[in-house]
Amino acid sequence: MSGRPAPADHPIESIISERWSGRAIDPKPVDRATVLSMLEAARWAPSCFGDEPWRFLLWDRERQPEGWEAALNTLADKNQQWARNAPVLILVMADSEFSRNGKPNRWAQYDTGAAAENLHLQGVAAGLVVHQMGGFDADAAHLAFGIPDRYVPMSMIAVGHPGTLSDLDEEFHGGETGDRGRRPLSELVFEGAWDNPLGEE
Ligand SMILES: Cc1cc2nc3c(=O)[nH]c(=O)nc-3n(C[C@H](O)[C@H](O)[C@H](O)COP(=O)(O)O)c2cc1C
Repeated sequence: MSGRPAPADHPIESIISERWSGRAIDPKPVDRATVLSMLEAARWAPSCFGDEPWRFLLWDRERQPEGWEAALNTLADKNQQWARNAPVLILVMADSEFSRNGKPNRWAQYDTGAAAENLHLQGVAAGLVVHQMGGFDADAAHLAFGIPDRYVPMSMIAVGHPGTLSDLDEEFHGGETGDRGRRPLSELVFEGAWDNPLGEE
């Protein structure tokens, strides 16, 4: 699919406006170097105490066909319908304990989200479709892949080359072409005091 840049109200960097969550994926493989760069980008995210609480479980259909199939099977049916074309699946987890002292890390999921966004943007820079999914069975993932309890599965990420509408069931076509939107800044940002909307002039 072609780009769908965000109609931003204020100027933003193109790598951010060009990021979106596509579903039309060409099943051809993604080269290893690109996948490694995406994981490397994730690694350089900021984290509380520099604890680096993110963990990733990677399946490349070419390299681990059975694991890839098992990962696909943890997804909600609706996600499987399009993510089955993704040659790479990445499960993102957050460590619920600080590695430095074993205490609960209440920032782990925040940090892990930052790492996932880094990974996503690096994929966008390489011209790939990257799509995070919360619609998967986390308990099934724990069981299927022997993930220790302290690591909380946060999202499964589908990665692949852009496809066309013919790669997608019709019910998903609107999501590839419709207008993109966000709540206005004035609804999201308060200035000076709670409920005092940001002035944008
Ligand atoms: C944590 C998380 C979970 C998501 N879960 C799903 C999902 O299960 N299935 C899906 O199709 N999209 C999922 N998405 C994608 C969102 O629907 C998408 O990011 C949102 O609608 C904004 O669109 P954009 O990313 O194209 O700007 C998820 C995104 C995030 C960050």
